[in-house]
Amino acid sequence: MSSSASARGANPQQLSSSIIGRLLDIMKDGFRAGREKKLLAFFTEHFNQLSPTAEVKILGGIGYVTQDPENIEALLSTQFQDFHLGPRSMAMKAMIGDGIFTQDGTAWKHSREVLRRQFMRMQYQNLKGFREHLETLIERLNTSSGVTDLQPMFYRLTLDTTIAMILGQPVESFKHEIGDLFSKAFDQASLITGTRVRLGDMYFLYSPRGFFKACETIKRYTYQFAIDALQREEESPVESEKTSFISELHRDNQDLQLVRDQVLNVLIAGRDTTAATLSYAFHLLLRNPNVLETLRCEIDTVVGREKDINRAHIQQMPYLHNVLQETLRLYPPVPINTRFCRRTTTLPVGGGPDGRSPLLVREGMPVAYSVYHMQRRKDLYGPDPLAFRPERWDGSELASIGWGYLPFNGGPRLCLGKDFGLMLASCAIVRIIQEFPGIKLAPGEVLEEPGTERQHLTLTLSNAQGCKVILE
Ligand code: HEM
Repeated sequence: MSSSASARGANPQQLSSSIIGRLLDIMKDGFRAGREKKLLAFFTEHFNQLSPTAEVKILGGIGYVTQDPENIEALLSTQFQDFHLGPRSMAMKAMIGDGIFTQDGTAWKHSREVLRRQFMRMQYQNLKGFREHLETLIERLNTSSGVTDLQPMFYRLTLDTTIAMILGQPVESFKHEIGDLFSKAFDQASLITGTRVRLGDMYFLYSPRGFFKACETIKRYTYQFAIDALQREEESPVESEKTSFISELHRDNQDLQLVRDQVLNVLIAGRDTTAATLSYAFHLLLRNPNVLETLRCEIDTVVGREKDINRAHIQQMPYLHNVLQETLRLYPPVPINTRFCRRTTTLPVGGGPDGRSPLLVREGMPVAYSVYHMQRRKDLYGPDPLAFRPERWDGSELASIGWGYLPFNGGPRLCLGKDFGLMLASCAIVRIIQEFPGIKLAPGEVLEEPGTERQHLTLTLSNAQGCKVILE
């Protein structure tokens, strides 16, 4: 992505050769920053020279990038009908087929309704489904010695819990080598799919060796898990209100291939986002010992040594809630997203000499929105936006932040797994701090300013350095 704020409204052909030269330099720098795992830091440097909504050149076309809450609200909510997902659907299909993440219009509406009903049913669960997986995580941590990287363990936890939630029961075979094979193929396919999505219309140019094989592996396994789960439920039927997510999907759509795709869509949404949140939460807690101590006291007071954590416990821990809010502010797992204009329209701000007038957006134009940069704006979050300060969420300081805080998206496509992700992350944080009260940073880990560390950007953001700790 490269900018041309000075060329606002200009036709690409009219750009002078010096501007084109500069754009090429910026693109080259962008690729280098990506290789060095500093892509968002590169964007930060670049966006700092622009207004919060600016014209940019994205892959040969002109579009906009915005960090203005008013514009993001229009894109995702008040003018939802004017925008669509664009080429992302095609770019992701090889990996996850046809489901809520790749659909727009009527097909999306239908998927959303079917999945929403399933998530609503789960809201009333008392978090029992997480326990077995959390205890497996604690067992693994108990057997590790020396420096432990928590990050891969969080990916395994979120994969296992999401699979179990969808299929209705633990998948025994998944615990062992199949789980590892599946995770490996899933990682490889997500990494490549992330780049394909960023390539927009030119996604098909990027399909390195092994990509289609990895997609085929995850599709094959998911298909088999789905068939096994449905068969088990047929052999020992349960009361209708206890039927699993998968059998509800199957009831709605008898085509097993579509059921498989919908499962993959939920998996891609649920696994990496929650794992990255957990990893960044510990990254920040261990670099801010006062925050960790306050949280430890809250856990001690509310749950003590109780291992069976339920929703009522979590609801009595406002500081834990603030820690997660603040983690998701600094490191939203979906940092930058894009929508494409369906019909020529205007966005509320970004036009005119002072950028406060409506902005014309033509049919077909991409509008990227950076939640990552918006959530670090000084004018929205005060003079210390890079500080990890959970207390900022107390009282009235951010009471009117509205669309200025958006880790879960907003409007009709608001994340369906928000409650699931937050509850799982809360329980995992509590259990780890209960079990390892002396947890500390591994020797040699640096206390860098948030955003300057190396980051891994696939479809989601994660820490390229992992989360290395000593467990005590
Ligand atoms: C901290 C954890 C999570 C974060 C920050 C998060 C964030 C998001 C974001 C930003 C989107 C919008 C993507 C887009 O439209 O381009 C989204 C959508 C979605 N999320 Fe999450 N998510 C989280 C956890 C989960 C979990 C655990 C699940 C499922 C188990 C899930 C299921 C979904 C689904 C199904 C959608 C698609 C909604 C739609 O398009 O209508 N998410 N999530």
